[in-house]
Amino acid sequence: MSDTVPKNSRPWLKRLFSLALLCYFILFALLIAAAGLWRGAFAGPRQQPVAFPHTVHAGKLGLACDFCHDGVKQGSNAGAPALSLCLSCHRSIATERPEIKKLLDYERRKEAIRWERLHNLPPFIHFTHQRHIQADLPCTTCHGAVEQMSEVRRVRSLKMGWCVSCHRSRGVSRDCATCHR
Ligand code: HEC
Ligand code: HEC
Ligand code: HEC
Ligand code: HEC
Ligand code: HEC
Repeated sequence: MSDTVPKNSRPWLKRLFSLALLCYFILFALLIAAAGLWRGAFAGPRQQPVAFPHTVHAGKLGLACDFCHDGVKQGSNAGAPALSLCLSCHRSIATERPEIKKLLDYERRKEAIRWERLHNLPPFIHFTHQRHIQADLPCTTCHGAVEQMSEVRRVRSLKMGWCVSCHRSRGVSRDCATCHR
């Protein structure tokens, strides 16, 4: 008779249940960790207002990175090039292409192109390109081979651990106040 069976007659069922619960939590934790890693390590590409190809400009044409990102030498921000710099070539080059027509439309509307940022540290972090470029670190160390990317991707996490491990290996300051201001 079923109603006389003691409650704990099926311990295996209980164990099976706990095991299933454990698997569920482990899987969940793994998923969260994987999503975090993925987001941290390989962000981008994003939808840009103009489909700018680094492969053509930095790759085929071999333009220097700081020809367009001239902030890297003097300041903290690498900066995005002004529309006038693009038009110094594209007033006459490839003007029939849709993406180049967009450039001329921006000029007509006297509007700046608003590029979506991909690399963005929190505002409380002090980072300057200048110091790193002066230390002879090439762009590829932190940005990968951008000249081969049809759309720029982020190849480093930009997390504190990343900054600190390079500073440690090169004997650069790791005081909190170096980066936190
Ligand atoms: C002809 C101008 C030009 C040259 C040369 C150029 N870039 Fe760019 N770069 C741009 C423009 C415009 C953007 C914004 C659109 C985009 O993200 O693709 C950009 C975006 C980037 C970004 C993403 C910034 C962010 O956080 O959103 C990185 C990193 C970058 N460039 C690195 C490089 C490196 C490294 C080189 C040299 C190998 C280089 N660029 C050469 C014009 C240029
Ligand atoms: C030094 C000259 C030069 C500068 C400066 C320059 N470009 Fe270009 N760009 C070129 C050349 C050359 C091509 C290749 C055209 C071709 O395929 O025949 C090109 C191709 C392109 C294309 C691909 C067009 C297509 O659909 O095939 C885009 C988009 C573009 N440029 C945008 C820009 C933007 C935005 C800037 C400014 C951040 C810029 N360019 C600055 C010379 C330049
Ligand atoms: C030591 C690592 C490091 C090196 C070397 C480096 N960058 Fe960066 N770059 C960063 C970080 C970190 C950011 C995000 C900065 C922020 O959010 O304030 C960034 C941001 C950028 C951006 C986004 C826009 C901006 O104004 O900051 C561009 C473009 C860029 N870098 C281009 C370059 C180019 C070109 C070079 C080589 C001349 C270079 N970087 C060398 C780490 C580096
Ligand atoms: C690949 C190596 C590398 C990475 C990654 C790196 N740095 Fe540096 N950093 C250096 C070197 C080398 C110097 C020393 C430059 C000098 O001596 O002038 C430096 C200097 C600095 C300085 C100036 C230090 C001082 O004494 O005034 C600051 C601030 C800084 N880094 C912040 C950062 C931050 C924030 C990050 C991460 C977003 C970062 N760095 C990532 C190599 C790196
Ligand atoms: C070489 C640069 C660098 C140094 C040195 C450094 N940090 Fe950071 N720290 C960062 C960067 C970049 C971030 C933001 C990215 C992240 O969250 O990992 C950060 C984030 C943090 C955060 C998380 C803040 C938040 O709200 O997300 C804490 C807490 C922190 N740092 C504490 C410290 C302490 C304490 C020290 C000194 C022992 C220190 N940091 C030294 C670069 C640095």
